[in-house]
Amino acid sequence: MRASMVAVGALVAGLLATGTVWATERIKTSAADPAGQRAMAEAGRKNAAFCANCHGEEGVSSQPGVPNLAGQNPAYLLDQIRKFGSGERKDPFMQGLIKVLKEEEREQLAAFYASRPASPASQADAALAARGRDLFVRQCQGCHGEQARGTDAYPRLAGQRATYLQTTLTNFRDQKGVRKSQPMSTVTAPLKNDDILALASYLTQLP
Ligand code: HEC
Ligand code: HEC
Repeated sequence: MRASMVAVGALVAGLLATGTVWATERIKTSAADPAGQRAMAEAGRKNAAFCANCHGEEGVSSQPGVPNLAGQNPAYLLDQIRKFGSGERKDPFMQGLIKVLKEEEREQLAAFYASRPASPASQADAALAARGRDLFVRQCQGCHGEQARGTDAYPRLAGQRATYLQTTLTNFRDQKGVRKSQPMSTVTAPLKNDDILALASYLTQLP
């Protein structure tokens, strides 16, 4: 127990050292207070027992359609949790689940998953990945960062499950209404299915 708390502390310290900006007041306050941050992530771990069925014990999913949460920007996680809660982002299961969580529990879950180390999801076809890289450099890295690790304002994409990336990008492009994001609808509008596959192949194998 103690060893794992120390490990969480080291990871959170590493995360803060890279300059992550915490977008919500409570997360922001606790960033200046490593002990508070640690307590928040530990509380999140307890609430995450059920989430682990799909998102994995440490936020690394073992199911193709389920996203990894480990190493994701905490402000983005909290934002998406709130969007499921309000119905702005649609997924029948996630909406029902999140609705019953209190705001404090949502923040703790975001802090927990953000503190876990990300790991690349899978190997990918090299030629497809190279094509995806070209597309990413031209059209995506301005927001998602050179290494696709996200910023304080944009989600991490590196190491995400390929199937999830493909579905998500297709949903944005086709404006299926499951998620709304003006920048993502605009940027995906001209993409062909092959482009989306190439992007997913590139992003999924990034560390
Ligand atoms: C039955 C499986 C299942 C369980 C249990 C589950 N999730 Fe999910 N979760 C999903 C799926 C599937 C998606 C992707 C939905 C979509 O395609 O938009 C998702 C998406 C998410 C996202 C958005 C990630 C992103 O990159 O945008 C967050 C955050 C999340 N879940 C948090 C949680 C938390 C917190 C719990 C526990 C309280 C939980 N989930 C439990 C299946 C599950
Ligand atoms: C102008 C800035 C911008 C650009 C350029 C951009 N994105 Fe995004 N992206 C965003 C924002 C903002 C979100 C969060 C949307 C939300 O809140 O649902 C996002 C979300 C995503 C997601 C969902 C992540 C998850 O975990 O569910 C994926 C996948 C994604 N972007 C891929 C891309 C790809 C691939 C490109 C290039 C073709 C790209 N983005 C270009 C701003 C951008």
